Amino acid sequence: MARDARPASAPASGPDRDADSHIQFVYTALLFAVLGGFALAVWLPVRAALGQMDVSWLAAAQIHGHLQVMGFAGLFVLGVATRLAPRFGGGQLACPKLVEGAFWCLLVGLLARAAGQPSAARAPFAALMVGGAVFELAGVVLYVTSAGLTLRPSIIGGAPNALLMFSGMVWLIVQATLGVVWLSQLALVGSSVLRSDRDGLLVSIQFFGFLLSVFAGVGLRSFPSFFGMPQPSVRMGQAVFASLQGGLLLWAGGSLLVIEGIEAQRAVVVGQTLVGVAILLLVSTFGWWRRETRFAVASQPLAWPLRATLAMLTLTGLLLCGSGIEAFARGGAISSARLDAVRHIFALGVITQGIVAMAQLILPEFASERFVRPPRRWRGVALASALVGAVVLRGFVPLAGVSGDARLWSMAAGGVLGLAAIAAFGVLFLRARRTHRAYLRRVAVWRTQALPTTGGSLPMRGEGPSGPR
Ligand code: HEM
Repeated sequence: MARDARPASAPASGPDRDADSHIQFVYTALLFAVLGGFALAVWLPVRAALGQMDVSWLAAAQIHGHLQVMGFAGLFVLGVATRLAPRFGGGQLACPKLVEGAFWCLLVGLLARAAGQPSAARAPFAALMVGGAVFELAGVVLYVTSAGLTLRPSIIGGAPNALLMFSGMVWLIVQATLGVVWLSQLALVGSSVLRSDRDGLLVSIQFFGFLLSVFAGVGLRSFPSFFGMPQPSVRMGQAVFASLQGGLLLWAGGSLLVIEGIEAQRAVVVGQTLVGVAILLLVSTFGWWRRETRFAVASQPLAWPLRATLAMLTLTGLLLCGSGIEAFARGGAISSARLDAVRHIFALGVITQGIVAMAQLILPEFASERFVRPPRRWRGVALASALVGAVVLRGFVPLAGVSGDARLWSMAAGGVLGLAAIAAFGVLFLRARRTHRAYLRRVAVWRTQALPTTGGSLPMRGEGPSGPR
């Protein structure tokens, strides 16, 4: 019998069309990163070093954060989740049209917010900013409806990875709702900068509610097997879920009370510590420090970037726990400078690096590329080195207490490294996509020639956990 050697992402019709569901998300995310978030990441510290820190700088910093978290990381993660959620839910992507609608709402929303906020002191731009937030809310509601229906069987069955992924989606809706309310109030007072307490809460929910929960759901299922660890027990998965979601509820709920002027700082700090504990529990199941790996030969160069990603996740957990315990003992809060550094270690070391490494492991474009023309070994190491450099310059240098111009120029250099890494990754993705499409065309021709006869079989290279699916 002829064997169907296609990676499961044929750009054809019917169910196969859904296999390309991630593409528009991935392209748009990379554009937001290169032209928006990372470009501002270089520009912001340079402007600060030149002494130009005014209201427009603060608005630009908030736009940088939003474009990075929702435009780059958010869209990328949502795109890849359209491929992973069906595997977790054991079926197909439910209502793909909702995902299509979600993409356009998110795109319009992100562009409108970025265009409106800097000039929100004027009514038309304020309306644009609020309209953007409303479109973003509509987009996430559409997306989460599809994801919820896709994951439903596993959620009902209590599978921790599906629960974690879905809870990340719920936090996505929470932050988008708060965004609509607070940006509307901002528009009414004619300002372009969100109050720092509200802004800090939004950013924390986006990072640790949305991105961390989804990352934990994917990681719990994939990483232990990459490093030859046994699959974590359901009880362990439930412990991670409970401490992460409990911590987030305390963190977010306490922060809302503090915003309303009610004393609840201790609850916030306990919540932050619990989130750190959840991260440490999670990484204890991964075994990233072990020598043994179960990567297929062609994917082995990606073990190093994945280890670096998980080491950064461990550091994020340690820093959150340590800072939380120290703040609790002192009876105060974790300083905003420290939280900013921890967030950037997570943003660059875990999310950006995780996106670059995991995309190469699980996206069908890179799987076809490995099959047709295995990439050079140094590629994964070079990208990861640039990103680890960016983490050191943006996260660790400020954490070490370096201040003044040295801190700002170090951040700008980190921004350049991050921008270069993500732009290079974008080029690699484009190239892999071309290879993938050419490969699929060849397979389609081969199938039409081989099917009438029997016995023809396209040679496949064994791909292990990263093989074309
Ligand atoms: C090396 C690369 C980066 C540099 C140089 C950089 C730089 C900055 C700077 C200067 C700020 C303003 C901090 C302040 O208000 O004092 C900031 C805030 C922020 N950054 Fe980054 N960043 C980088 C990467 C990232 C990445 C990859 C993400 C997310 C995926 C991210 C998300 C944020 C967020 C959420 C904020 C807070 C914005 C707000 O106040 O609302 N950054 N960043």
